[in-house]
Amino acid sequence: MCHNKSQSNLDFRFMSFFFKIRDFFKSPMKKVDIAEIKSGDFVLDYGCGPGSYSFAAAEIVGPSGKIFAADIHTLAIKKVNKKAMKKGLENIITIETDYKTGLDDNYIDVIMCFDVLHDIKDKESILKEFHRVLKLDSRLSFDDHHLKENEIIETITAQGLFKLIEKKEKSYNFSKI
Ligand SMILES: C[S@@+](CC[C@H](N)C(=O)[O-])C[C@H]1O[C@@H](n2cnc3c(N)ncnc32)[C@H](O)[C@@H]1O
Repeated sequence: MCHNKSQSNLDFRFMSFFFKIRDFFKSPMKKVDIAEIKSGDFVLDYGCGPGSYSFAAAEIVGPSGKIFAADIHTLAIKKVNKKAMKKGLENIITIETDYKTGLDDNYIDVIMCFDVLHDIKDKESILKEFHRVLKLDSRLSFDDHHLKENEIIETITAQGLFKLIEKKEKSYNFSKI
């Protein structure tokens, strides 16, 4: 069972500032494109942080789709809610959690899990939750520059829940087995 601790508020603010610079040099839309999100999709952005990828994906899924932006940190949830309200986006729903999403089984088209897994001790539980909420014909789009390629592939496929479909740039797309 996951019982992770979130970082301090100061660390979270520092990280968010750093992500603004990161996003200026590399548009979040590039990574979202690799995840092959489509109009009308239901997307889970797990460990959304300040929401760079949630907001990029929201543009693609449009009003008929939904983005579930999940994070353990209260500031992430507050930041994403505030920005969604400011932009008038009703298709972004936040979830404060350290692992359970509360979403229905077989409900999600794409999970984006970017730069999060290295932080999580109980990786098995998170991956089981991802498998539960994903539809059969769906995608787990993953990246984590803290982990080596073999660690990524071994960790995600270890329980026999996912298989690797493709690697593009530094992102890996897995499908549900
Ligand atoms: C390095 S940030 C990446 C944020 C975002 N995915 C991005 O790439 O811009 C990692 C995020 O994962 C969140 N996180 C860490 N452990 C988590 C957990 N067990 N459940 C949900 N979120 C978690 C952190 O609070 C943080 O916002």
